[in-house]
Amino acid sequence: MKGIVRDIKKYFGTKKADKFPADIKIEFSSVCNFVCPMCPMAAGKLNRTSFLTEETIRKIVDEIAEKKLGVKTIALSLFGESFINKKFFDHLKIIHEVLPHVKTRISTNFGVIDEAMALKLAKSSISEISISIDSLDKEIYAKQRHGGNIEKTLKNVNCFLALRNKHNPKIKVQINFVRTKLNKEGIKEFISYWESKLSKGDSVKLIPGHSWAGQADDDDLIESYKFGFKKVCSAPFDNLCIFTNGDCTVCCMDSFNKLNVGNVVETSLEEVWNSSKMKRMRSRFLKKDYRGLICANCEVSKFYPVKYVKNRLYLVKEIKIK
Ligand SMILES: C[S@@+](CC[C@H](N)C(=O)[O-])C[C@H]1O[C@@H](n2cnc3c(N)ncnc32)[C@H](O)[C@@H]1O
Ligand code: SF4
Ligand code: SF4
Repeated sequence: MKGIVRDIKKYFGTKKADKFPADIKIEFSSVCNFVCPMCPMAAGKLNRTSFLTEETIRKIVDEIAEKKLGVKTIALSLFGESFINKKFFDHLKIIHEVLPHVKTRISTNFGVIDEAMALKLAKSSISEISISIDSLDKEIYAKQRHGGNIEKTLKNVNCFLALRNKHNPKIKVQINFVRTKLNKEGIKEFISYWESKLSKGDSVKLIPGHSWAGQADDDDLIESYKFGFKKVCSAPFDNLCIFTNGDCTVCCMDSFNKLNVGNVVETSLEEVWNSSKMKRMRSRFLKKDYRGLICANCEVSKFYPVKYVKNRLYLVKEIKIK
């Protein structure tokens, strides 16, 4: 019932922008070792610097600390594979030194993590790791996680889980399954496998594949979303994503920086959050005026009344390990 009331409020209600977002996302690498067909990375090279630099991460965290911006969690990934950035562990250390109370999380394909890196990760100060796997089947995995090898990934993930259990059981692990036409038959086996490997507090997350607001539209893979109504998307009111080169967007779907609201290297976080570009974006969103924006093709921000009747296609499902 609470969920229905919240969704109705979101659909009709207007939003006031947060003073600054409590949760921000920072891209560590804009290059990837995989080419997953349902991801915008496969649709073209991202047109920005490959790796987040020490200078940029310091500028960001110093401002958060000095101005007490109230950031509580930082995601260490957007597009690309963060662990390709050779400075990953140095940057993580800087974040936790400057912002000791902030929680950090990451999404990774685990493709470049060997035993030595797994040990470093298990001993690190990271709070949560989401591992994108999508299938246990060799051929399906090779297609959907193109560039990866399931045997290698499972070996390294299981090695990491053992090290995490030994050195730092507080790190939460989430195994992600993006559902597509390719892998949907194997969901039950996937869940049982991970239920037998994960520990209390970990989870398996089932995510319906979407088209990244039309940017990775692949009819062969993505099931279509029907019957949804456009609503006021909350992204410009409570969300900020920072790319490797400091460019800022309001949305983690915006791989090609089409919803740019400024640059944090050239100005500051506060200036970006209160910029005229950002204010214009908010006023357009309040009117649901998405003309010419990627948002016009976005499925994830829609309101789906049908989900309350029977359809489970649009629901993200999280299975917690007890
Ligand atoms: C863009 S990736 C970047 C981080 C990292 N490379 C990874 O794969 O985890 C972030 C997340 O988006 C998910 N993803 C990719 N394509 C998707 C799609 N079409 N629908 C839903 N999620 C998708 C990935 O599985 C991953 O969990
Ligand atoms: S989903 Fe992740 S691993 Fe796959 S291409 Fe996109 S960024 Fe790379
Ligand atoms: S409508 Fe979709 S693409 Fe636009 S900001 Fe919201 S979530 Fe992102």
